[in-house]
Amino acid sequence: MSEEQIKNLEAEFEARIARDEKIEPKDWMPEKYRKTHIRQISQHAHSEIVGMLPEGNWITRAPSLRRKVALLAKVQDEAGHGLYLYSACETLGISRDELYEQLHSGKAKYSSIFNYPTVTWADMGAIGWLVDGAAIINQVPLCNTSFGPYARAMVRVCKEESFHQRQGYEIMLKLCQGTSEQKELAQDALNRWWWPSLMMFGPTDAESTHTEQSMKWKLKRKTNDELRQQFIDQTVPQAEILGLTIPDPDLKWNEDRKSYDFGEINWDEFWQVVKGYGPMNKERMKARVGAWESGEWVRDAAMAHAEKKATSLKKEVS
Ligand SMILES: [Fe+2]
Ligand SMILES: [Fe+2]
Repeated sequence: MSEEQIKNLEAEFEARIARDEKIEPKDWMPEKYRKTHIRQISQHAHSEIVGMLPEGNWITRAPSLRRKVALLAKVQDEAGHGLYLYSACETLGISRDELYEQLHSGKAKYSSIFNYPTVTWADMGAIGWLVDGAAIINQVPLCNTSFGPYARAMVRVCKEESFHQRQGYEIMLKLCQGTSEQKELAQDALNRWWWPSLMMFGPTDAESTHTEQSMKWKLKRKTNDELRQQFIDQTVPQAEILGLTIPDPDLKWNEDRKSYDFGEINWDEFWQVVKGYGPMNKERMKARVGAWESGEWVRDAAMAHAEKKATSLKKEVS
């Protein structure tokens, strides 16, 4: 293809996005668009399945049958989110095996929030309320993103996320209406999860390298700082209902901006965790790789069964 032809294709491609048309897997797309989407969708898929780990280890310790059923359903939803997203990613020409290999070798990133430990039952409340709450704010705009398979997967993901957020908030509410020890557990969980949740929106706009291009492709509709502010403004009144204190002495309503001002985020901690030095990075990878290895016999058995079926089907046909 000549340079001129590529330029024309690119112009037509950008025009389609500007018209809010969906880009489908078999459509022509610039290589950079394909690569960026593989990176973002796979990171998202990895986050969903690594995100099962901190909560999965509480299923057996949930305090009642009702809590156990809800947590189990939530963790299963996250597995489902991972599967839709891996499938969407595969349509861009990368295999599932390659994607897993990137995760297991440490080449691919996943959301740093899952590198923090879950030490009490209240953490299940704080995660649902804050982490899934932040995920919704990040993900709702993606329902309108330009790449069709990603946008369609996100519609269902977001519906399920709102159930996750509510089940978490309900755990917090119950704890806050309970004994003083229970309320202390809830406060302690908020203290530990608040700042990492704010970090989920990524570095500040000034530091973010992908924002401009991603806005153009509608992979992003709002900047990191705008989304973070939206999360804070939405979450502070919810903490007030719980009667909990947000661990930020600088948090204050700003009447002029009609928004909350907030304190400095510890960006050193953020980068440390991103680089693999968070409290649970090693543990999470060990659990993930361990699950992959101990599941090998299941994959082998499924393949052998599929082959056997295909052979007997062939015999029937001939
Ligand atoms: Fe999810
Ligand atoms: Fe979720």
